[in-house]
Amino acid sequence: MASTEGLQAYEEDNLLLSLPKEKGWAARHLCLFQGFWCPSAFFQGVINFQKHFQAKGSDVIVATVPKSGTTWLKALTFAIINRQRFSSSHNHPLLTSNSHELVPFLEFVFHVDNIQDKLSHLSNMTEPRVFGTHVPFPSLPKSIKESNCKIVYICRNPFDTFVSHWIFANKINPHSMHELTIEETLEKYCKGILGFGPTWEHMLGYWKESIANPNRVLFLKYEELKEDVNFYVKRVAEFLDCPFTEEEESNGVIENIINLCSFEKMKNLEVNKSGTFDRNFEKKHLFRKGKVGDWVNYFSPAMIEKLSKTMEEKLGGSGLSF
Ligand code: A3P
Repeated sequence: MASTEGLQAYEEDNLLLSLPKEKGWAARHLCLFQGFWCPSAFFQGVINFQKHFQAKGSDVIVATVPKSGTTWLKALTFAIINRQRFSSSHNHPLLTSNSHELVPFLEFVFHVDNIQDKLSHLSNMTEPRVFGTHVPFPSLPKSIKESNCKIVYICRNPFDTFVSHWIFANKINPHSMHELTIEETLEKYCKGILGFGPTWEHMLGYWKESIANPNRVLFLKYEELKEDVNFYVKRVAEFLDCPFTEEEESNGVIENIINLCSFEKMKNLEVNKSGTFDRNFEKKHLFRKGKVGDWVNYFSPAMIEKLSKTMEEKLGGSGLSF
């Protein structure tokens, strides 16, 4: 007789086989699951995350659109939350670990066979636990939606997100990218075909939730963070119920966090310059220019028209603009 686990695995394999598929670009194979394009390689991880993750009320989830500032927001959130545990700027974990190692993606954490070991490891982690995810809001596990845990979300102007993603995909996936021009890739992007896309749906899911439940979801934009990082570091701390004290402010704690997580600082750390991330891609590819508006160097007038029109169609009237 088949074991329960064996039966579940069989059903999940069948489900995966039945889903619509597309060839991706950064993620090579995508399947349409619950309305979003899930990288097939992480389908199992997403299912396990949905089924098994037990949120705690003190958890913090850093939710993001890929290539919109995830690495930065994970670092800032980790540093803000743990500022009393790691007050010295000489031996801070962010100096020796990449922020994705300190704040792991839950869909990747659950991309394992031995769920029980993973669950006991997670339940023993120091609280508050900080995790990341690219999973769209409607597909988050019930346990996150029903707990009091906080979600900090970041997205970015789709023009810059697309360019950042396109260049990243070319670096990590040169073989399949050679088959696609930038114009063809933009076509796919506008149709929503990319890992965890459509981007519009992703942004709107968290946007609506941030309006309905402002104490649960804090909605940030990369451009705003760049413009006034000091303001947003304080905003994140307040949102997470750990506001900076006057003493901390006058002791330069905020500035120390901003400097520790700055693009230049992170990009030039040995831990981020060398080595691969999960044996998958080189960590240095996570740091490119870190600038707003670099898209002007890549978009033709036809591409500008295409993406502007799509954004108008998809985001018009939502109150979300860039
Ligand atoms: P560019 O490709 O435009 O340079 P993600 O972390 O979601 O993958 O997003 C990657 C983008 O964030 C890249 O943008 C990268 O350079 C930028 N980035 C990485 N670390 C950053 C930091 N500490 N501050 C600002 N931007 C950062």
